[in-house]
Amino acid sequence: MSTIKNKINVLIIDDCPEDLFVYKNFLQKNEEITFIIEECETGEEGMETCKTSKPDCLLLDYNLPDLDGLEILSELAPLSFPVIMLTGEGTQQIAVQALKNGAQDYLIKGEITPSNLTQSIITAVKMFKIESERQRFAEELKRSNQALEDFANIASHDLQEPLRKIHTYAEKIKELSEGVIDERCRDYLNRLQSSTERMSQFIEDLLKFSMVTTTTKPFKPVDLNGVIKLVLSDLEITILNKQAQVNIMQLPVIETDRSQIYQLFLNLVANGLKFNKSDTPVIDITCQKGTNNYWEIRVKDNGIGLENKFKEKIFKPFFRIHGRSDYKGTGTGLAICKKLVERHHGTISVESEPEKGTTFIIILPEKNSQEEQV
Ligand SMILES: Nc1ncnc2c1ncn2[C@@H]1O[C@H](COP(=O)(O)OP(=O)(O)OP(=O)(O)O)[C@@H](O)[C@H]1O
Ligand SMILES: [Mg+2]
Repeated sequence: MSTIKNKINVLIIDDCPEDLFVYKNFLQKNEEITFIIEECETGEEGMETCKTSKPDCLLLDYNLPDLDGLEILSELAPLSFPVIMLTGEGTQQIAVQALKNGAQDYLIKGEITPSNLTQSIITAVKMFKIESERQRFAEELKRSNQALEDFANIASHDLQEPLRKIHTYAEKIKELSEGVIDERCRDYLNRLQSSTERMSQFIEDLLKFSMVTTTTKPFKPVDLNGVIKLVLSDLEITILNKQAQVNIMQLPVIETDRSQIYQLFLNLVANGLKFNKSDTPVIDITCQKGTNNYWEIRVKDNGIGLENKFKEKIFKPFFRIHGRSDYKGTGTGLAICKKLVERHHGTISVESEPEKGTTFIIILPEKNSQEEQV
């Protein structure tokens, strides 16, 4: 919790000298905080003062001779300090409108006391500071996500082309040097080509990772049964080759970004099949409604499992437990899953033991219409 300074600059815009006198008196009685007070009697004068002497808090009378409080609020937007609207009795509607337009609080003039006035100012200053910091972090995060996507886009376009050329020229050297170079040189060329393929895959996956929060679609009600059906049809050949069995419970309809939720299940089911040495790989997808309209969805396999020490690390980009020769992949699948589940205001975690299978637990809200933070 942020602390409050012991000096607060308050600007009061009120055309009634008696009221101004009372508020000043109330604030100056406070022994812990020194309130430095400036006063204005008209809206125009008040707005000018706001520009020159940025207050820590503005007490704004709704009824002024030249402008009303709501007009002043919209003129001052975006606010760089908290505003407390002072309204007359029976003007609750105005107060609600003031809050919607960005005021931190309202006080009804006849009910103002030294303690509720001081408390309202202290809370408004604290909350405004917290909200400003939250907005700053959200903007920074947005900028860094955008920078990552820009970088990934440039990397993708500008690096893929030379990589393709290296691959093609290696192929040409192999063709032209048939019978001229020995097996060792041929092996080097093959390795060079597989390195370019790997790098190309890394770049593509980095681009996918960076785009989770920047290339998004709005949340809409999505029937998860349909999504899983599509995932299974896309993995049909692997399922057949591995003679795997996938059991699915009736799943709910939840508000999601359909293409992202598809990516989530595609990676989890693909992992359950890939990291699995059983004669019959079995994947169980189950769900259960939890508290506060959250759904818990479990994707359980009977595969190789993993040690406790990897439970957090597997969600980091490019982290893999095994070598490339054992299992294919770049290690971005779960990092993308985590990022997109968090975008849906949910969580993803894992329960596992070596040789005893793995269960991924996803918790997602049924409704997701709240505004995105980033
Ligand atoms: N179901 C699972 N069973 C055992 N280990 C798993 C399972 N799922 C993931 N892992 C471990 O977590 C690592 C990260 O998984 P992730 O899906 O991010 O990468 P990947 O499957 O290796 O590659 P990619 O998904 O990018 O193709 C894997 O390399 C693997 O070591
Ligand atoms: Mg994967």
